[in-house]
Formats: sequence, structure tokens, C-alpha cells
Amino acid sequence: MFEKVAITGAAGGIGSFVIDDLASRCDLTLIDCVASFDRFRICQTDVRDIDMLRKLLRGHDAVVHLAAVGEEDPDRVCSVNVGGTWNVLQAAADCGLRKAVIMSSEAGLGMEYLDTDPPPLYLPIDERHPFRPRDLYGLSKQLCEAVGQNFARRGDIDSIVCLRPTEVVFPSVIEDIVGRLDGETELGVAGVTRTSAERHGLAISRAYIRPDDMARMIRCALESETEPYAQFWASAADTYANQPTLDLMQELFGSLPEIHTLQRFRSQPYAAVFECTAAQDSLGWEPTGVWRDTVAEWRACRNAGADGPS
Ligand SMILES: NC(=O)c1ccc[n+]([C@@H]2O[C@H](COP(=O)([O-])OP(=O)(O)OC[C@H]3O[C@@H](n4cnc5c(N)ncnc54)[C@H](O)[C@@H]3O)[C@@H](O)[C@H]2O)c1
Repeated sequence: MFEKVAITGAAGGIGSFVIDDLASRCDLTLIDCVASFDRFRICQTDVRDIDMLRKLLRGHDAVVHLAAVGEEDPDRVCSVNVGGTWNVLQAAADCGLRKAVIMSSEAGLGMEYLDTDPPPLYLPIDERHPFRPRDLYGLSKQLCEAVGQNFARRGDIDSIVCLRPTEVVFPSVIEDIVGRLDGETELGVAGVTRTSAERHGLAISRAYIRPDDMARMIRCALESETEPYAQFWASAADTYANQPTLDLMQELFGSLPEIHTLQRFRSQPYAAVFECTAAQDSLGWEPTGVWRDTVAEWRACRNAGADGPS
């Protein structure tokens, strides 16, 4: 494990879980554009400022780059998500860091909007499935991956691991998902999903990952020896859908794509559409989250007056 690790976007949703997971294992430098963050000291820096990044990353072994903005701020999507990733990796290379973990997204796949996005080419979706984003955020994540691959080819950083999270189900979003799944009985699956075009609905894939699993995956990415550039899907093994996965895909797209491992969906009807065996093989990481248990845990915490599962 590396001794000194910097985290950009440390004050964000995933950042909090990563800090909790890594704090007892290494020295952390927390970087974010916000001025303050709970009990932690933040180095307030914009990832668009490469000179500041060079100053902050000096003396570190690795960087976890989480800072990004969503589609709601289109003007900043390219400069922060793409330019910021380039800056972080360039500063990391200049400062001799050996490892960088960067964040892509399921959004890069381009399977969010039922009315415009094409169905998957095959199931389950592995790391070889092409990215075909239509929206700006998805495009920015595709470009982040290209930036990471470019730095790996240059060889200035020993290892760049790119993680592709599905929807991270923070305790604060579980109630919303549960409510929307209930709404499916009224509107039908396609009705609810179509509203995702306005970013209010559920992901077509119904894939998710628990934030604690996500943080552990980031730690595994830091700890593992991988190829100079490696990318991995980050998904729970199941979905949060109300119906079996192949029934859902059939209902949404009107037909099924080629199924590479039918046995997977026969033995686990609610199996995720994303295949995470590459992460298991290379990082020694497996998701632990099961949707039913995650909701039960959240309900128990809510009834007890706590925030929900960590
Ligand atoms: N949360 C999800 O469901 C999800 C899914 C797929 C991918 N991801 C990716 O994972 C990463 C972390 O996600 P998150 O959920 O923690 O996001 P978040 O929005 O909660 O946190 C992002 C953090 O980045 C900081 N930030 C934004 N612009 C910055 C800038 N210019 N300079 C420095 N800091 C800046 C924000 O202040 C925030 O604290 C992002 O790259 C995101 O695209 C998240």
C-alpha cells in the first residue's frame, strides 16, 4: 500500500467513503474546490489549476482522482472532467507518482435514455463493450478514459486504473429509488425509464454499487499490481429492478441482444448486466452489496433515526 495518497474531489459523495476506508492505512491529502468539509482539512484547489496540483502532489505516491461535475453544469463539464483529468495526470507524472486511480462512469456506455440510446450489443456487458455516449457527461467520461490511456502509453506513471461505477446508491438516494420502483407498477417499466431523459428516472440498466463497495474497490485498485492501463466496471452483482434482468431488457428494448452467458441469468435471474470478473481477477475485488439487504439495512437505520447504511 502506498504511504502518501492524494484524493481530488475528496469532499464529494464517494470521497467521504474513500477517506473512511483509507484514513487508517495511509497519509491522505484531501483536495477539493470547496473550502471546508466536515471534520477534515481540505486543500482548496481547482483541478483546472495545474500549478497548484503540482505543488500539492509533490512527495505523494498515488492519486485518487474523483473531482468531476455533472451534466447540470455543461460549461464546466469539459474543462473540469476532461481538462481536470489531464491536469491531475500531468501533475502526477511531473511529481513522479507511481499510481493514479481515475473515475469513468456507466454514463460513457450511452445506455441511459430509452428513447435515443441503442440497446447493448451483448449481455453481460464487459470492458470490451464499446462506449457510445450521446450526452456531454458521458462523452467527458469517454474522453477521460482516452486521457488515461494516453498517459499510460507515455509511461510516466507506472499504473493508471480507471474505474467505471454504475449508480452509487448513497443512503440519501435509496428512498428515491424505492419510490420510483413502486411507481413502475402504475407507469410500466418503460414509462418510468423514459423520464430518465430528464434525469429524474432510473438507469436503464438498473445497475448500482454501494458506496462502501466502491471505496473498497478504489483501495484494491491502489493495492493491486495491474497493467499500465486497466479499466473495470464497478457494479453490484444484482440489480435493483422489480423483474428479472432479461425480462426487463426484453420489455425495454423489445428484443434481447446476444447473451454470452445465459447460465448467469438462469442461475441468478436478477444478475447485473455488468460483468465484474475482470476486477475480481485483477484487483481481487468483489461487490458485497445485495439490493434487498441494502434496502432492509437502510429501513432499519431510518427507523432507528440514523442516516442509513454506510
Ligand atoms: N456518484 C455516482 O453515482 C457516480 C457514478 C459514476 C461515476 N461517478 C464518478 O465518480 C467520481 C466521484 O463521484 P461523486 O459521486 O463523489 O461526485 P460528487 O459530485 O459527490 O463529488 C465531486 C467532488 O468534486 C469536487 N469538484 C468539482 N469540481 C471541481 C474542481 N474544478 N476542482 C476540484 N474539485 C472539484 C466537488 O466539490 C465535489 O466535492 C466522479 O468522477 C463521478 O463522475 C460517480
